[in-house]
Amino acid sequence: MNIQIGHDPALVESKKRLISGTYLHNAWYVAAWSSDLAAGKLLGLTILKEPVVIYRMADGKVGALEDRCAHRFAPLSMGKIVGTDRVQCPYHGLEYDTAGVCVLNPHGNKHIPPRARVKSYPVTEKHQAIWIWMGDKAPDHSTIPDFSVMDNVPALHSTKLDKIMVKANYELVIDNLLDLSHTSYLHEGILGNSETVESVISVDHDGDDVVVSRYAQSAKPPGMNVLMWPDVPAKVDKFTEMRWMAPSTMRLISGVCVPGASKESGSGYHAIHLLTPETDETTHYFFTAVRFGVFSKGDELNKQIQEKVAATRRFAFEEQDAPVIEAQQRIIDASQTAVDPVTLAIDVGPVRYKQVLKKLISAEQAP
Ligand code: FES
Ligand SMILES: [Fe+2]
Repeated sequence: MNIQIGHDPALVESKKRLISGTYLHNAWYVAAWSSDLAAGKLLGLTILKEPVVIYRMADGKVGALEDRCAHRFAPLSMGKIVGTDRVQCPYHGLEYDTAGVCVLNPHGNKHIPPRARVKSYPVTEKHQAIWIWMGDKAPDHSTIPDFSVMDNVPALHSTKLDKIMVKANYELVIDNLLDLSHTSYLHEGILGNSETVESVISVDHDGDDVVVSRYAQSAKPPGMNVLMWPDVPAKVDKFTEMRWMAPSTMRLISGVCVPGASKESGSGYHAIHLLTPETDETTHYFFTAVRFGVFSKGDELNKQIQEKVAATRRFAFEEQDAPVIEAQQRIIDASQTAVDPVTLAIDVGPVRYKQVLKKLISAEQAP
């Protein structure tokens, strides 16, 4: 993060209140969708500023190593998998096992220096994604965020497993997602409209989760809801409930129902947002959606809806959210005076999650 510009401590401090510039390491982050890693494939990427290669072995298991050969730092992701589970460096052929230990030096007397090893990362697959544990503590599988809404759903009721890169710090993306008041403006017509501005907002803590709910009464349904519910009434109650789960995944329930009716009787989707910091100023953004209250009939119609929902959401994130968030990042970076945002009632969710995240990071960094 370029927050050192000017070397003014007050300026740097003010920027750190917006973007902490630190990470929770002992946590699970999404490295890829499972379907994006075929057997025999190596995928190099950066997570929390560390070069990582994830790969799938012939038996389907996934491994993750530091993507930097101990010899001359060639990226292992440019190499290949040999035997059942070894990664061979593309440059001089050193081979590493899944623990990151060099087990073959094909040259000379074949001696393997003890330092010939790379870091290995715990990795697991759940909810159609590959999760990587970035810390040094033993991985805690019970802390993989709950995305079971993605499991065992009819194929036509869930959308493409998609991804974009955002050129901004992941905290700015979380700020965006935890404050859905922006849908009435930035996504006007698609995800919100002028009639959904007036909403009752509530914020709850569920353990370390922060849940922000909005409820707009008797409003014109946004385009996305009209698309998914062909006979949607002219006026609906619109509800959204966004749950942030540390460190950086979010699960949204977004739907509409007949005014005054229960949310359960309505139609909408569970929106899945999985954010993985790449660097201080870039974020891997994985997303998909799973419908509930599916009133549209027939596979052909549901296939059309599936494709339109996926395309519309990608458009909203890539063409509407990302440009604003990336511009925010540039403005914060360039600011030569302290950045002290005006806080509104709609900001309570972002303020609360930052408190929890800061608490978790401080606890991790405590001696
Ligand atoms: S750089 Fe990997 S074997 Fe030489
Ligand atoms: Fe948005």
